[in-house]
Amino acid sequence: MKFDIASPDRILEIGHAFRACKTLLSATELGVFTVLAEGPLDLGTLGQRTGINARGARDFLDALVALGLLARHEDGRYANSAETALYLDRNKPTYVGSLLERINDWDYGLWGSLSASLRTGKPHGTDATSNYGPRYADQALRDQFVSGMTVRTRPVATALATKFPWTDYNTLIDIGTAQGCLPVQIAQAHPHMSGGGFDLPPLISAFERYVQQHCLSKRLRFYPGDFFNDPLPTAEVLVFGRVLHNWDLATKKMLLKKAYDALPPAGAAIVYERLIDDERRANATGLLSSLQMLLSSSGGFDFTGADCTEWMHEAGFRDIRVEELTTEQSMILGIK
Ligand SMILES: C[S@@+](CC[C@H](N)C(=O)[O-])C[C@H]1O[C@@H](n2cnc3c(N)ncnc32)[C@H](O)[C@@H]1O
Repeated sequence: MKFDIASPDRILEIGHAFRACKTLLSATELGVFTVLAEGPLDLGTLGQRTGINARGARDFLDALVALGLLARHEDGRYANSAETALYLDRNKPTYVGSLLERINDWDYGLWGSLSASLRTGKPHGTDATSNYGPRYADQALRDQFVSGMTVRTRPVATALATKFPWTDYNTLIDIGTAQGCLPVQIAQAHPHMSGGGFDLPPLISAFERYVQQHCLSKRLRFYPGDFFNDPLPTAEVLVFGRVLHNWDLATKKMLLKKAYDALPPAGAAIVYERLIDDERRANATGLLSSLQMLLSSSGGFDFTGADCTEWMHEAGFRDIRVEELTTEQSMILGIK
């Protein structure tokens, strides 16, 4: 990769990127876009409705205008852009702010510990992967987590619905399903498919509610379990969506082996993740996601398609191939 070195602008822009990021996260937290979904508002009214003190309000809202996240009309009233109206109004089903809320509450502070984690090789503070239990004990945190997962999964699941030969299979179980976004998308697109999602028992109500909202309770059910202590349930297709990256190498391999054992002959395993490119040079998203695992787990890391191909081969899978699903995420598919 070559860059123009005539100016340090690119370096300084990366160094400052957190300010634009936090401006968006705070606007979501304070409900700016949801309040504006009711219609344009002047500075004073919008500040009052969102609890933003007058000193920072004008700069904050104009910064959102300059970032292209709000519009300001000739009469000075602020309004959502087409994009923020669609994706950041809490009352719309297209809302993606639950993911931003989680980033604001957890990840933003967590990344402040990057240097410390790089020095120690350990997560700073709580190990999030061994912390699923306590997080799920709090209903608000649990709901925020599972709907954040759905925001990330929906585009991947939509792509997977067309890029896998579902007509050759009848049953699917999504391992580590969270709210069940993946099985819902597949079952909606393929009426012959049934199965469900496997996850820790506290997620049963979140899963059942989501499946019911999509009128799929007759075809999809929740399989409660702990993949460290229980065998995986059987289906013709087993999916691991952004599950393997949470864990160390031994656990990744243990899960793939459990999937192999649970599948019938000719069954398929699908792993999807933000893959690192095989050369480990180009895909910053996959590499930054791996740093997130350093910050939040004791052994997790992201990986390349070639890495996962090797582990699946070792577990016994054949006809393994890697295929892009979205610009961000790809799948590795293997057959028993
Ligand atoms: C990063 S989330 C991925 C969720 C979903 N597959 C997706 O792509 O959006 C990891 C999931 O693994 C589940 N999980 C973690 N530990 C587990 C365990 N021991 N047994 C079963 N599921 C587990 C979590 O509850 C969570 O839903």
